[in-house]
Amino acid sequence: MLNADTTDPAVLRELIAGELAAARERTGRLTDCVEDDELVAQHSPLMSPLVWDLAHIGNQEELWLLRNVGGRDPMHPEIDPLYDAFEHPRAERPSLPLLPPKEARGYAHDVRGRVLDLLAASPLEGSPLLDAGFAFGMIVQHEQQHDETMLITHQLRKGPAALTAPAPPDHADRLPAEVLVPAGPFSMGTDTEPWALDNERPAHRVELPAYWLDTAPVSNAAYQVFIADGGYDDPRWWTERGWAHRQQAGLSAPLFWSLDGGQWMRRRFGTLEPVPPREPVLHVSWYEADAYARWAGRRLPTEAEWEKAARHDPATGRSRRFPWGDESPTPAHANLGQQHLQPAPVGSYPAGQSPYGVRQLIGDVWEWTSSDFHGYPGFRVWPYKEYSEVFFGPEYKVLRGGSFAVAPVACRGTFRNWDYPVRRQIFSGFRTARYAGEET
Ligand SMILES: [Fe+2]
Repeated sequence: MLNADTTDPAVLRELIAGELAAARERTGRLTDCVEDDELVAQHSPLMSPLVWDLAHIGNQEELWLLRNVGGRDPMHPEIDPLYDAFEHPRAERPSLPLLPPKEARGYAHDVRGRVLDLLAASPLEGSPLLDAGFAFGMIVQHEQQHDETMLITHQLRKGPAALTAPAPPDHADRLPAEVLVPAGPFSMGTDTEPWALDNERPAHRVELPAYWLDTAPVSNAAYQVFIADGGYDDPRWWTERGWAHRQQAGLSAPLFWSLDGGQWMRRRFGTLEPVPPREPVLHVSWYEADAYARWAGRRLPTEAEWEKAARHDPATGRSRRFPWGDESPTPAHANLGQQHLQPAPVGSYPAGQSPYGVRQLIGDVWEWTSSDFHGYPGFRVWPYKEYSEVFFGPEYKVLRGGSFAVAPVACRGTFRNWDYPVRRQIFSGFRTARYAGEET
């Protein structure tokens, strides 16, 4: 994987080609495992038909690489509006005259062939879009992000399982429930990560008071205690908006959970199974995460607290790329890249722990933070405002760390995700925090 030392264009070309191929292989796995009628069907009004994602991936690749970088003419200008995510909300997309599966695959394939020719001839320097292969990196991450979206569609889809994967390794250790992060400054965000997106920049100093943070994400077992204690029925634990939403949506457990004779079950990629007590809780909204934290006498961590615990190295005073150091993720560090279709038990991945001893910050589940999504001080739109800036504001909450569905190339200690506080079809969990000195 790319790091700031990758400057040789030949090495960079090979790396980009490998990442493009890996993303397309995953896109293929997600779309070849179901019949064409399932590709064009809408499995949930929250999601696009899979065939939309497929052609949209090709369309963005054509737009950014062939047209913006390569200066080529549009291949099929008439289809551009169909695949503009801002022009048509997801619920509308099935009614559009979308390319059928064969044509969508063919289009993405044609674009890719031309992109590989462009890459072979590109100096990968000389303009901000080309330097360190940024535009290629952005497109690789875009495809991998849509692969995660398509995996969510698979989770929402009814019917028998279409995807399988081995269970993640179970290396869970018995650990203290929480770790202390002492007061002091750290460097948040990045100036050096070559493929970091605009919202991760620039690096800036943040001073935090001391706090305690959960060593691992909140487990299903812990969450079931909240349910059994009437947590969903007690407005004391919920924000006003959260309670209104809980009432209106009739929430009583995480999405995909059901009660069967006193046993909580969950549906996971077409398979019904007992809720595994040691796994991180998954498919909870921000409102549910926040209510759990209040019930536990705690709170959600801020985004800065999450990042300090994940990146700050107290021995050197610098911020790492990942909790374990600067090396790119391996399967020993974190549960990433859809290698498994579920998070690992809480306390797993000893090789991935941060200097403070915090586990599973990267991979397994996206973690809700208490923070609204805003630009950092000195934020500059790059390369287009629809990537981040149009979402800045109090209506979106930040999630950190990536899930088992996130590719290593689209995940790092600085990466920021955001969503509405009601969302829970995403692979979202959380951990909790408290200020040092507060008793629980
Ligand atoms: Fe997109």
